[in-house]
Amino acid sequence: MGRVALVTGGSRGIGAAISKALKEAGYSVAASYAGNDEAAAKFTEETGIKTYKWNVGDYAASKEGIARVEADLGPIEIVVANAGITRDAPFHKMTPEQWQEVIDTNLTGVFNTIHPVWPGMRERKFGRVVVISSVNGQKGQFGQVNYAATKAGDIGIVRSLAQEGARAGITANAICPGYIATEMVMAVSEKVRESIIAQIPAGRLGEPEEIARCVTFLVSDDAGFINGSTISANGAQFFG
Ligand code: CAA
Repeated sequence: MGRVALVTGGSRGIGAAISKALKEAGYSVAASYAGNDEAAAKFTEETGIKTYKWNVGDYAASKEGIARVEADLGPIEIVVANAGITRDAPFHKMTPEQWQEVIDTNLTGVFNTIHPVWPGMRERKFGRVVVISSVNGQKGQFGQVNYAATKAGDIGIVRSLAQEGARAGITANAICPGYIATEMVMAVSEKVRESIIAQIPAGRLGEPEEIARCVTFLVSDDAGFINGSTISANGAQFFG
């Protein structure tokens, strides 16, 4: 079996495409998910990829979930912090709860995912960390003060981790997807979606597999000198 890879939020959307691509590339993949048991069961049935349920916003639950993955598959050498949510609202309507939920999942969730696996990566002198940020963390977005803050935070996380991990053979990079055809993007109104597509020079939404291929490259042994970088995959919507 190949190296063990954990993909959070790995049973749906971009995460599902990442899990599948890593499996195809020969990795031993675990996909975490937060709550949708039905989607996770269907994903496992279709792909043979094991799914594990925990809330990435909860440190103790993350640590315990990661221990379960490692007991089943072995030490995690590759971690893809992908789990994320939106709670969109213009700032004047955004509630403290909408702010906190997004911070807990998208930002603290990244800490909670990487922190438990980091000591093992340091000891073994190898690790690959990929954080799924967003074009909206680079450019900001009307209605996404909370989400954009977390996605900009991801970039700070990988730039700092890259410096701390480099001598231990660990790389940490971010991918900033643009608007990708997933349930999250489909959840915005059709009018908003059309106006978004009009701003994408490629004239279309991206496909989850287009992000998955970036991940497969970044976690490969060949990408060892790419560290602390941000890959934009957005159809030329923004140059971050
Ligand atoms: N720029 C400027 N003004 C805007 C605007 C924009 N982008 N969008 C809306 N407005 C204006 C509206 O025209 C409206 O003005 P008027 O009252 O003068 O007509 C005002 O703001 C209020 O707009 P809404 O009635 O739409 O307000 P709302 O509370 O119903 O909804 C919203 C606001 C939920 C934020 C909605 O605008 C929205 O869904 N926006 C899209 C947010 C978005 O892009 N989310 C991305 C989700 S996918 C994702 O996050 C993945 C990723 O990483 C890319």
